Amino acid sequence: MIHRDIPITYQHRIAFTHGAFDAKNHTLRDLVADSSGLGETPKVLVLVDDGVSGADPKLLERIEHYFSVHSDTFSLVSGPMPLTGGEACKNDWSLVEKIWKAIEYHKICRHSYVIAIGGGAFLDLAGFGAATAHRGIRLIRMPTTTLSQGDGGVGVKNGVNFLGKKNWVGTFSVPFAVVNDLNFLSLLPERACRDGIIEAIKVSLIRDANFYEYIEKHAAELRKLEQAPLEKTIRRSAENHVDHIATSGDPFEYGSARPLDFGHWVAHKLEQISDFAVSHGEAVAVGMGVDLIYSGIIGILDQETVDRILDLIEAVGFSLWSDFLDREENGTPVILAGLEEFREHLGGKLTITLIPAIGEKLEVHQMDHDAVLEALSKLRERSEREVSNTVKSMG
Ligand SMILES: NC(=O)c1ccc[n+]([C@@H]2O[C@H](COP(=O)([O-])OP(=O)(O)OC[C@H]3O[C@@H](n4cnc5c(N)ncnc54)[C@H](O)[C@@H]3O)[C@@H](O)[C@H]2O)c1
Ligand SMILES: [Zn+2]
Repeated sequence: MIHRDIPITYQHRIAFTHGAFDAKNHTLRDLVADSSGLGETPKVLVLVDDGVSGADPKLLERIEHYFSVHSDTFSLVSGPMPLTGGEACKNDWSLVEKIWKAIEYHKICRHSYVIAIGGGAFLDLAGFGAATAHRGIRLIRMPTTTLSQGDGGVGVKNGVNFLGKKNWVGTFSVPFAVVNDLNFLSLLPERACRDGIIEAIKVSLIRDANFYEYIEKHAAELRKLEQAPLEKTIRRSAENHVDHIATSGDPFEYGSARPLDFGHWVAHKLEQISDFAVSHGEAVAVGMGVDLIYSGIIGILDQETVDRILDLIEAVGFSLWSDFLDREENGTPVILAGLEEFREHLGGKLTITLIPAIGEKLEVHQMDHDAVLEALSKLRERSEREVSNTVKSMG
C-alpha cells in the first residue's frame, strides 16, 4: 500500500461591513486584490437572489457602479444576474444549468470569482454551481438574511434538493471569503429578521456562556430587533459557528455528531409537517424547547436553568409551542418520526446534542420516547399558562 498524507490548510475569512457596494467601501476590493497575483484583472460574475434585488431596486445599479469604479482590481463580466431565491431555487435544476452556462459563456475560470448575494437557499444553489464548474470556482458569499449571516452562510456546505430530499446533492467547499453586509438585514421582514436570533441562542448554549449572557441582557432590545444589539448578536453567532467549524476537528462532517444541530431534530420535522408554514427559526425555538424540557426530565439539566432558557427564547419573541406538534398518526405524534429521520440525515448512529449547562454540550445516542412525550405535554401546559397569563393581563 502506498500511503501519503495530503495536508491542506484552508483559510476561512468572514468580513463584516455596511454598504459593501458603496464605491468607497474597500472590503471586496481588498479581498480580491490581496490574492489575485496573476498579472491580469480577474473576472467576476455576480449572481443575485431576486428576493433581495426586489427589496432593494437600486442594488443592481449600485453593484455595476462599484465595479466600474474599481475596474483596476476586477472586471465585471456582465450586469449582475438576478435568479430565483428562497427554497424554490433549490428545487429547480434548470437554475444550476443557468449558472454553469453563464460561467462557460463568460469564460469564468478557476482564477475568476463568482459573487453570490442572497439568502441561505440561494447561496446553497449558487455555491453548488460554482463548486462543480471546472471542479471549483472561487466563491465569495454575501449572505443577506440574519440566519445566513449568523449561521448557514458562513459555513462550508452547499447543495440543492433532489428526489424530493433536501440537500441531497452538494459539496463541502470552503468559500474564498464571506462578506456579511449588515445593511441587507434592514430589508428583511420582521419575522425573517427575528429568525437568526434563535441560532445565536443555540450556538451560545452549546459553546459560549458569555455570549448567552449578552443575549439575555439585551433580550428586550433584541425582541424589538434594535440594530446595534442585533448586529452584535449576528456577528458573535457567525464567529461561534466558524470557530466550531474550524476547531471541532470535523469540518466536513465525517462523524455523526452535529452539535450545531442542537434542537434541530424536532425543527426539521416541524418545518416539514407544517409544509414550511413554520419558519426555520420558529421551528428551532420549539425544538430547543422540547430538548431542554426533556433534559430536565431525564436529569441532565437543572430545572432552574431549563426555565431560564425557555424564558429567554420567549423574551426575544419566539413561541415555544406549535399546534403542528399535535399531529398524530396511528395514535403516535408524527414529530417522533423526526428522530429516525435525523439519524438517517446524519448517517450512522443517532447522535443528539443536549446541554448539561449553559455553554456546554453533551452527546446522547438515544432519546427515551416516554420522556419525549412528557416533554411535549409539559411544553403544551407551559404555553397554555402563557396564553392565559396574557389574556389576564390584557383583561
Ligand atoms: N449550507 C449550509 O450550511 C446551510 C445551513 C443552514 C441552512 N441552510 C439553508 O438555508 C436555507 C434557508 O436560508 P434563509 O433562512 O437565509 O432563507 P432563504 O434563503 O430561504 O430566504 C428567504 C426569502 O427571503 C428573501 N430574501 C433574502 N434576503 C433578503 C433580504 N435581505 N431582504 C428581503 N428578502 C430577502 C429570499 O429571496 C427568500 O424569498 C435553507 O435552504 C437551508 O437548507 C444551509
Ligand atoms: Zn438551523
